[in-house]
Amino acid sequence: MLGNLTIRKRIMVILAAVYAISLVVAVTGGYFVLKQETTREAIEKTELFAAVMSANQLYMAQNIRPEILDRLPDLYFPEATVGIQMLVETAELIQQKYPEYIFRVVSPNPLNQTNLSDEFENRIIHDFSKLRYDNWEGFIEKNGKSFYATAIPIEARSGCIWCHSTPDAAHPEMVEEYGTESGYGYKIGDVVGARFIYVPTEKAMAQTMKKLGVSVLVLSVLFLIAFLLLDAFIVRSIVHPIEEITAIATDISKGHMEKEFKVRSNDEIKALADAFNRMKVSLVKAINIIKK
Ligand code: HEC
Repeated sequence: MLGNLTIRKRIMVILAAVYAISLVVAVTGGYFVLKQETTREAIEKTELFAAVMSANQLYMAQNIRPEILDRLPDLYFPEATVGIQMLVETAELIQQKYPEYIFRVVSPNPLNQTNLSDEFENRIIHDFSKLRYDNWEGFIEKNGKSFYATAIPIEARSGCIWCHSTPDAAHPEMVEEYGTESGYGYKIGDVVGARFIYVPTEKAMAQTMKKLGVSVLVLSVLFLIAFLLLDAFIVRSIVHPIEEITAIATDISKGHMEKEFKVRSNDEIKALADAFNRMKVSLVKAINIIKK
């Protein structure tokens, strides 16, 4: 197929094929590398978020709650004694600045109905209680958005029971606020819920696509420059000299024996022109012999 094309077109077709292959390699390779990068970034952010929240909870458990329970045993002050309430409320403050980051402490049997687990969260909580693994992480789609999510199970311990066993055992103020229907019946050792952190990957993916776009643009510009330079070179060094040689050969074939093959370069085409000149000299000699 290529055999029917001019040299110039043939070289351009080959270059276009190299460009297409490079583009495919750059886009698929680049996408893979950048995707890895995005994943790593999402994991790092999630881990940092989780570590900060766990540290908050630990600080309350070690420094605030024991002191409050000791000094004011009858006081119902969940802001300083309920770790989960503190986590949820801290997360709300964080979300004011980073609305896309989602932090949830959920249960299929919650006191606060906004902490009710959804279908995906129920599945993970179910797996936590059946298979007893201690964390889950992965990519998920939620409300049409993609997130990197991590989850850890929440197990009922002896310290939870006075609020989460029966409404009678719990503080009356708590029961008044949350009702008697849901959030009770905890048994020590049960997985009663899970802490989920969702970090959006969309923003990072959009950046990935932008970076990929820039790479494609740079590659295309480089190839365009290569196309133009190579084309100019082919025309100057191959096409024009061959056209000149063809014109002179045509003239000579019509009897203009005084014409000379002339080439400015000093390459294979020059060698061809020199060979034609020698052939012409031999031809002239042969014609003269025949004439005599
Ligand atoms: C002083 C009472 C109290 C204690 C002790 C307590 N919780 Fe809670 N817990 C609450 C309250 C109140 C909420 C609702 C917080 C909110 O409104 O977001 C809650 C919320 C939760 C939630 C989120 C789902 C829901 O019910 O709204 C989970 C899960 C949970 N607690 C588990 C535990 C575990 C596990 C322990 C023991 C380690 C524990 N709680 C100890 C009062 C308590």
